Amino acid sequence: MTAIQSDRPTRLKALKAAGSPIFAPSLLACDFARMADVLRGLKEDGAKAVHLDVMDGHFVPNFTYGAPLIADWRKTTDLPFDTHLMMDNPGRYIDDFIGAGCDTLIVHIEVLPDPRELLRHIRSCGVEAGLSLNPGTPVESVLPYLDDVDCILVMSVQPGFGGQSFQPSVLDKVRQIKALRPDLRLCIDGGIKSSTARDAVAAGCDLLVAGSAVFQSGVSPREALASLAASVASHS
Ligand code: DX5
Ligand code: ZN
Repeated sequence: MTAIQSDRPTRLKALKAAGSPIFAPSLLACDFARMADVLRGLKEDGAKAVHLDVMDGHFVPNFTYGAPLIADWRKTTDLPFDTHLMMDNPGRYIDDFIGAGCDTLIVHIEVLPDPRELLRHIRSCGVEAGLSLNPGTPVESVLPYLDDVDCILVMSVQPGFGGQSFQPSVLDKVRQIKALRPDLRLCIDGGIKSSTARDAVAAGCDLLVAGSAVFQSGVSPREALASLAASVASHS
């Protein structure tokens, strides 16, 4: 297999050009044994980014993968890697994820008393920085840092597992952040399907992560992505 050549500025430019709203398939729900094929298929199916869920078994009660696997997947696609670090000590590993070719690095506010230095470091490396907050974490926790991020990821389930039910109460956080900073990319993660996507986009979400809705809905990822896009078409 020939390695795909791509560079981060080009990938991030493509992500910006994709506009809003877009869906980012979460690889958590796909067949890891076929990752190169999955990524090639998602590109052909029109995905504009993929969402990578890194879990450390501490911050969340589940493990997934780390920078070495991401570096290998990077060789197989030029899709932007929207990377969600569900881990206790993201600063310790951040340069590994940057080196692996991640395009957006999202860290959790719950583990960072003051995330500014880390966010600035991420951005200084040409990578987009984001902050995520769990359903039980108040919106006020991220408001002091809106100038230090490129995106905010509002969790609409307790992180750790795919296939959970969307918690509509988190949409108040989306509305509050959108009102303060309409320019910021607002992302939502957990329980996204056609019906919840509509509500999320109406509240102001720009990037919607979808795992089981793309890979485990009984139709092909292509059909699943098309029906998700159709569900929010009036907002595009
Ligand atoms: C959950 C992860 C999500 C997950 C979403 O902890 O952060 O990205 O894959 O899966 P669904 O779309 O199935 O809720
Ligand atoms: Zn995620």
